[in-house]
Amino acid sequence: MHKENEGCSSSNRAVITGCGAYTPAKQLTNDDLAQMVDTSDEWITTRTGIKVRHVTTDGETTATLAAEAGRRALEYAGVAAEDLDLIVVATITPEMPFPSTACFVQDALGAKKAWVFDLAAACSGFVYALHVVQQFMENGRINKALVIGAETLTKIMNWKDRTSCILFGDGAGAVVLERKSDAGRGILYSTMGADGQYWEALNCQAHGSRYPAHRPLDDPNRIFMQIKGREVYQQAVRRIVDSVTSCLDHCGLTVDDVSMFISHQMNARIIESAAKRLKLPDEKVFVNIADYGNTSAASVPIAFDECVRTEKLKKGDILIFVAFGAGVTWGANVIEF
Ligand code: UT7
Repeated sequence: MHKENEGCSSSNRAVITGCGAYTPAKQLTNDDLAQMVDTSDEWITTRTGIKVRHVTTDGETTATLAAEAGRRALEYAGVAAEDLDLIVVATITPEMPFPSTACFVQDALGAKKAWVFDLAAACSGFVYALHVVQQFMENGRINKALVIGAETLTKIMNWKDRTSCILFGDGAGAVVLERKSDAGRGILYSTMGADGQYWEALNCQAHGSRYPAHRPLDDPNRIFMQIKGREVYQQAVRRIVDSVTSCLDHCGLTVDDVSMFISHQMNARIIESAAKRLKLPDEKVFVNIADYGNTSAASVPIAFDECVRTEKLKKGDILIFVAFGAGVTWGANVIEF
């Protein structure tokens, strides 16, 4: 088991005590997309591993998905919404520019005592949020938190652009974290990173301060997500491998100690090649991208929820959460379940 050291020892730990996920009922298959753009089930399956993605309809928003995932996580943990100290929603497709999506979730859940905010780190948002909450729990400032990754990426999708529209889906995943003293288990260590010079690899440019809504756009594509997939691909594997290696080293762990590698689901080939470089056997690598596509900040908690509910994890297992995304940003958490 893990060696206690500076980064991994703390009497206060942030322990995951519940999880939940929610995805919209409407689904879009690869064959459906082949009716819309010049693509095929064969291309999408072999290049990405995706078969189907869930898509919101008009009444469904980031906050409605987030609140439902949060409700399920609270129920699993047996924690009342009124007892939450903090809610963090990781998202790049917020309900609106302000107030935060987290305010809508707080209201929907009735979490009157909680202070709340959104965190925008794209696909790395959920692992970033865990790292933030971990600090507040280890220093004893909060006892119970709800961390949600929620996205409605299909709402900023250009359905005529085959390089982006086949990749993404909507959904939300959530965990309840509770501060436990001397529990041993919990979030052991996290490491995060970013490199803003690569912002053009993946972005949605309108309607912030650079391209405000009241000024006509020189390029109408700025309202959509735009992606240079190959550029993201090339950096993702290296960043994932480096983050996981550095986290494990810091905890005095090796890949042999890891029970489950739960990566951001961006592309099955990226996950497989990162896992191969880390020398992780297939049975320790969780991949569910076929059923959801890339759900950005929601993908790690949706995958974790599926692992828990299908009983793939047992108490004491060492888990790795890892993500890479727009910014570019990346991060990993080592967790004793
Ligand atoms: O979570 C972070 C966000 N996620 C990502 O950023 C995704 C990361 N990147 C990827 O997953 C992969 O790079 C993609 C799946 C996006 C693309 O796979 P690839 O193996 O890197 O393909 P490519 O971009 O090099 O394109 C190969 C060919 C091109 O045609 P030519 O130039 O070889 O004639 C593309 O035009 O595939 C073509 N292509 C398509 N063909 C059919 C691009 N998109 C499609 C499509 N259907 N949807």
